Amino acid sequence: MSHIGSYDQRVKNFDWSIAEKELGYHDGDPINIGWYCSDRICEMGKSDKLALIWEGHSGDVKKYTYNDLRVNSNTIGAFLKELGIKNDDRVCLFMDKIPELYIGLLGILKIGAIAQPLFSAFGDESLHVRMENAETKAIITQRKHVAKVRKIRDTMPFLEHIIIVDYDGKHPLREKETAFRMDEAEKVEKLDIHPTKAESPSLLHYTSGTTGKPKGVKHVHYSLISQYLTTKWVLDLHEDDIYWCTADPGWVTGTSYGIIGPFSLGITQCVLDKGFGADNWYQFIDKYKVSIWYSAPTAIRSLMKAGEEVVKKHDLSSLRHLASVGEPLNAEAVIWSEKVFGKPFYDTYWQTETGSMMICNYPGMKVKPGSMGKPFPGITAAVVDPDSYEVIDEPGKPGLIGFKPGWPAMFRTYWGNEETYRNKFKNGWYIPGDRSSIDNEGYYWFIGRDDDVINTAGHLVSPFEVESALLEHEAVAESAVVAKPDDVNMEVVKAFVTLNPGYEANDDLELKIMNFIRKKLSPLAMPQEIEYVKSLPKTRSGKIMRRLLHAKEWGEEIGDTSTLEDDE
Ligand code: WTA
Repeated sequence: MSHIGSYDQRVKNFDWSIAEKELGYHDGDPINIGWYCSDRICEMGKSDKLALIWEGHSGDVKKYTYNDLRVNSNTIGAFLKELGIKNDDRVCLFMDKIPELYIGLLGILKIGAIAQPLFSAFGDESLHVRMENAETKAIITQRKHVAKVRKIRDTMPFLEHIIIVDYDGKHPLREKETAFRMDEAEKVEKLDIHPTKAESPSLLHYTSGTTGKPKGVKHVHYSLISQYLTTKWVLDLHEDDIYWCTADPGWVTGTSYGIIGPFSLGITQCVLDKGFGADNWYQFIDKYKVSIWYSAPTAIRSLMKAGEEVVKKHDLSSLRHLASVGEPLNAEAVIWSEKVFGKPFYDTYWQTETGSMMICNYPGMKVKPGSMGKPFPGITAAVVDPDSYEVIDEPGKPGLIGFKPGWPAMFRTYWGNEETYRNKFKNGWYIPGDRSSIDNEGYYWFIGRDDDVINTAGHLVSPFEVESALLEHEAVAESAVVAKPDDVNMEVVKAFVTLNPGYEANDDLELKIMNFIRKKLSPLAMPQEIEYVKSLPKTRSGKIMRRLLHAKEWGEEIGDTSTLEDDE
């Protein structure tokens, strides 16, 4: 049983004011996430407590106390202010998982600007569409990524500053570029924290849909209320825990639960800025005595693949609670984890748009392997009919997940795309676009997404974005992109292409096209397989029938194709 009481008790007595009270927040007060995650923890007497333990890929280690977090985020905030960054300006973070990313985000929030974290492996085109949509005023990056920014800089008149955090003076800075070294900068003890209010914008996270460009999911400072409480109750963080969230802050898990949640609770967390490896990961847990671990199904499946022998080489007895997010967590993974770690992974379900966990397994609650669990207290959830959007009240019957709007971390709009935002609401429900059923004990069982978006290793990839990028390759005439099943990543990107005259369908060209996409978009969006076809299946009016190709990949019955051939 957890220290917070049973699930049913918590649901019965629930009110978001529980979090407000614990955070000392009253309706109408200023609320600034940057302040809550650093200054407030210091005011509570925890200045010397370790906030962040960071280990880089070459084994170098850096440690920051809560006072370091406070002062360094002040320093970054003051530096940005000096450059002319004002509240509501968008500042992009484009870095590996280095301390400047974690602390920089707090600095941006402290001056009331909007943080736009983007995955550092994004190629120039992925970066460009997202910065163009946000009209980003400044980007904070590293030397190793600056070439991508330089490539697109001249097409972005709104971009005023390119800040390089590891500038070494070896080459002259170019236009708009400026150097800032956090650890060496003169420290700013006191910064005027911008008095952001509950509804002031905080973060802009980009997410991909089936069609159109990536959408900027706008969050506000009040999201802290949900993020704080879900971190405390679902991840079960206690004062002396060592927490490890494996997600990159380029994605929402890495900000909601890799920055805001743990820091607002004054917890010590560690970060490993290194690629995946079972041995590395276990060594990291052993070395820092990680007690709470938040990861993802693809990583867990990779660990399963690495086997049990490597687990035995390390002392993992510090682990107390494990949780997972991002893709369906298969029952085998839960059972395996129970066997090798002595505890199951607790699945959690949510989205960039929801900002915080929505359906979860809680410490103390019976885990049904393969189920996502139950709605977080205060969240009204249901499974609704895909046509009428009426609640389906029959255990086991599939439908669309629906949430009653109004929880604190809910997104407030898609940046510059109010219409798409409004379309997400039907019959009073927010529809995240996932299918599920509910069993007779109220547990949710994920079925699948309700669109063509590909979930590869927990990251959403838009088939449309990859298809468009493929068409920019000189050899490609037409393209269709679908998910292909994969043992570890659950899904990977597969492309079907027809070639322009004069191009030969061979392995060399396949490799060239793959690399073209990797550089332009990202390694995740890169097709793992390209199938050359003579023509693509189309509807009568010429729309490519992705569904047909998808069904073939998954060995599913295609059924009556006459309906597919008509435009819907
Ligand atoms: C999927 C990540 C099954 C789902 C926090 C959702 C899941 C999308 C789970 C959001 C889970 C997330 N089980 N599917 N526990 N968690 N998903 O926006 O399709 O990157 O809509 O947010 O991932 O992905 P996003």
